[in-house]
Amino acid sequence: MKYSSLILPLLHRLDPERAHNLTLIGLQLGLGPGHLEADHPSLAIQVAGIDFPNPIGLAAGFDKDARVFNAMLQAGFGFAESGTVTPKPQAGNLKPRIFRLPEDDAVINRLGFNNGGLDDYARRMAGPKAGIVGANIGRNKDSVDAIEDYVIGARRIAPFCDYLTINISSPNTPGLRDLQSADTLSALVAAVQSAVTETGAEPPLFIKIAPDLTETDIDDIAAVAISSGINGLIVSNTTIGRPNFLKGNHRAENGGLSGKPLFAPSTKILSEMYKRCAGKLPLIGVGGISSGEDAYRKIRSGASLVQLYTALVYHGPRLITDIKRDLANFLKRDGFSTITDAIGVDVK
Ligand SMILES: Cc1cc2nc3c(=O)[nH]c(=O)nc-3n(C[C@H](O)[C@H](O)[C@H](O)COP(=O)(O)O)c2cc1C
Repeated sequence: MKYSSLILPLLHRLDPERAHNLTLIGLQLGLGPGHLEADHPSLAIQVAGIDFPNPIGLAAGFDKDARVFNAMLQAGFGFAESGTVTPKPQAGNLKPRIFRLPEDDAVINRLGFNNGGLDDYARRMAGPKAGIVGANIGRNKDSVDAIEDYVIGARRIAPFCDYLTINISSPNTPGLRDLQSADTLSALVAAVQSAVTETGAEPPLFIKIAPDLTETDIDDIAAVAISSGINGLIVSNTTIGRPNFLKGNHRAENGGLSGKPLFAPSTKILSEMYKRCAGKLPLIGVGGISSGEDAYRKIRSGASLVQLYTALVYHGPRLITDIKRDLANFLKRDGFSTITDAIGVDVK
């Protein structure tokens, strides 16, 4: 209450990137909301061999350098995904590179994988964790061998994460999304799998995909993911699409659009993926979730877990508790005793 009525309006008077950096500092200083209530038992779910206390996760990009995953878990998330981290530190694109579209409950970002690099990230990930923490890996902009960057990341981080996400869907690193094509994706997955095996650790491997895909792309990705033994697909990253109903002044900025306008397109891809993957591969639904109803719709459209980021910018961390309470109520109302019973029920 205090956060959304007092702190959010102040943060929104600042440039978005400054506001985010201040938020991270506050969280590192222990100023985050503590998590008081235990999760409702109906929210517990096992996915890829991991027991999640609830299915609401922090999406990648909020905690790029693995500084605040414990604070976010203590705020009530069932899991947190840190990263994207690249092998070498990189500055990312020129500022300004994050834009709020308050009229649309949306954000456009073209950060370009700004992060402090794998060494510092690995040191932090090796520390104590208050819950389930995934690591999201990417490539450096100037690397000549993209696959090798993922291999370096996987080798270094596999021993310290609960799951590993191969991010091939940021729109802000030129060429990154080309890794989604069938042949390249097979080679990438095989290389990362053997790098992980070498470490002796066995984190499940997830792939994070874009929402801007054709039917053929969806077919190809599903086929590769299933045949290669990937453990989950995260659907989706931000979109390069610009729906013509956007009102925010910054709507024409280049970059990836997230938040409410992403809900429909990302949920469409999610249910298309579910048609191809049901029973074979779990899906993690991301894009435009800002309420318990949104989370429930993602689950009914095929998601076993969900993640969010942009809604935190507009609603603050209280939202996490609200979503969990409402989701448990929706399950009860509709006669489902667990999340698992509701997965994909809207997909024909
Ligand atoms: C400022 C910002 C930075 C992001 N950085 C990353 C990133 O580094 N890696 C990644 O996989 N996704 C990144 N994302 C995408 C989110 O993880 C998520 O997929 C997307 O924003 C859709 O969810 P949302 O509508 O709940 O924000 C970023 C999103 C935003 C808004």
